[in-house]
Amino acid sequence: MYKIVTKRKLNDLVELMEIEAPFVSRKCEPGQFIILRVDEEGERIPLTIADYDREKDTVTIIYQVVGYTTKKLSLKNEGDYIEDFVGPLGQEAPLHKVKRVLGIGGGVGIAPLYPQLKKMKELGVEVDAILGGRSDEFIILDTEMENTCDNVYYATNDGSKGIKGFVTDKLNELIENGEKYDLVIAIGPLIMMKTVCEITKKLGIKTNVSLNPIMIDGTGMCGGCRVTVGGETKFACVDGPDFDGHEVDFDEAMRRQGMYKEEEKDHVCRLGL
Ligand code: FES
Repeated sequence: MYKIVTKRKLNDLVELMEIEAPFVSRKCEPGQFIILRVDEEGERIPLTIADYDREKDTVTIIYQVVGYTTKKLSLKNEGDYIEDFVGPLGQEAPLHKVKRVLGIGGGVGIAPLYPQLKKMKELGVEVDAILGGRSDEFIILDTEMENTCDNVYYATNDGSKGIKGFVTDKLNELIENGEKYDLVIAIGPLIMMKTVCEITKKLGIKTNVSLNPIMIDGTGMCGGCRVTVGGETKFACVDGPDFDGHEVDFDEAMRRQGMYKEEEKDHVCRLGL
């Protein structure tokens, strides 16, 4: 059993939990994920690691309360326990020392972006970030990002924080203003990552993305998380979740992501959650 040490609401939909999980916290690296089960009957859900503290033996997860399991998780409080917390899974993000990196995070994608940018900063890289969301309240970890990055820019749909528009509008503006980056790390909705990659491909800027497809076992056995990268089938759970964004077939990934939406809605309604 794994103890919930901290629980914090980041906004109406998104929550943060710090979980006591020494075996995960001692080994995990940015880019990796865990699979948890809330209770014995629970389904397994993958969540990327948003932070870790090797001294406190804790791992931070951030999740959007959107489906059956995240709703059940949200009913737990500090001091409660969750049944399973398996990891670290997946490959660590391919982070190398470059001169200047730009992180682009959308919505809850900001959570897995944060440890990657923190690690880049530790490597001595100059780090900028563009964070986007529907409005000010949907931008998470802004304080942590501001404490880590050299420059943080914001883009919101309603203009309540930063520019009114998308993260890609801010990216275009930075490029037009002559900013140069050796690497872009984009994590967020598939459509956001796809659009970022279309821009950076033309400019020849290497771009890593993190994919979060439907996962079942998380160990490369079921094929549920398959994605096409560079014309080859890859399993996000064992080959990723980070991939070269210029090689990802985003259209296929978007088709697969919507496959079980109706079933999930039905399940949540039936259980009255
Ligand atoms: Fe089953 Fe990746 S989740 S192969």
